[in-house]
Amino acid sequence: MLFGGRSGEHEVSRNSAASIIANLGDAYAVTEVLIGRDGQWHVDRKPVNFGRALDVLAAQDVVFPALHGPYGEDGTVQALLEWLGVPYVGNGVLASAAGMDKAVTKTLLAADGLRVAGGVTLRAGDHLEPDDQGRLGLPVFVKPARAGSSLGVSKVTAWWQLPEALALARMFDPGKVLVEPAVIGREVDVAVLEHPDGRVEAGPPLEITVTGAGFFDYDAKYAGGARFQIPAKLHPSTTAALQDAAIRAFQALGCRGLIRVDFFLPDDGEPVLNEVNTFPGFTSASQYPQIWQRAGISYPELLDILIAGAVR
Ligand code: DAL
Ligand code: MG
Repeated sequence: MLFGGRSGEHEVSRNSAASIIANLGDAYAVTEVLIGRDGQWHVDRKPVNFGRALDVLAAQDVVFPALHGPYGEDGTVQALLEWLGVPYVGNGVLASAAGMDKAVTKTLLAADGLRVAGGVTLRAGDHLEPDDQGRLGLPVFVKPARAGSSLGVSKVTAWWQLPEALALARMFDPGKVLVEPAVIGREVDVAVLEHPDGRVEAGPPLEITVTGAGFFDYDAKYAGGARFQIPAKLHPSTTAALQDAAIRAFQALGCRGLIRVDFFLPDDGEPVLNEVNTFPGFTSASQYPQIWQRAGISYPELLDILIAGAVR
């Protein structure tokens, strides 16, 4: 189990890994490899140098990278595991790197014909032009391109709030920030799972209802501020459209094993693909394992499928 990491989602990764370890069947003997927030590696809770950590990883039958965010979910750790030649669960280098960057994800998926959230990408030093403001309208969401769990994301309801929102997003991604028009409608996630025989399946859509005043931010995600409805109450044709779009996203990004695809359902029609998560949360509060449980695949069975897919 490889977890922790240098990103802002360090704590989320620790919680994902703890849930995974608790749900692994007796057939597995787990070695814990933790990356500290500072980048220090630990094996079974003892600090080790990088070379020792690599030796330990290389000696495993399979590595389960339960990492979220940059330096973990973005292809960097996957490249390390490729170099070591050790089988690992989940997405490879390209899908991880592309899926971590919300701007790249949208470009690739739009090229494949999927409807993605609109908006403007601001690089370091860029400003939002007045005609962009007119075109986007309010409210907008301001997001770091490469982060997760809504870290650095703000909802801007008046333009005077924009500079502060940009500054916050740039703390998480100095190089690239997205300003996207808020989609008025419902928020629905779709889990995609690849079985060891190569069959790719989309689970029942999950609808998120935020119980407080804000959006599905970090606290709503992990401090009980949201409710999930699985399956979401949707017209069967909408469910089919969401599942089809999620599987197309999985294939367009060249995914392996799993992905969670997050959509908005505007009041007036076709789902808008918001973002993808190449290693979605696996905490006890997270959507991905709950979706599969509802579909009849228990958490331990889900882990067996992912691990079997990695070593096939
Ligand atoms: N980035 C978090 C872990 C999620 O998508 O669930
Ligand atoms: Mg995410």
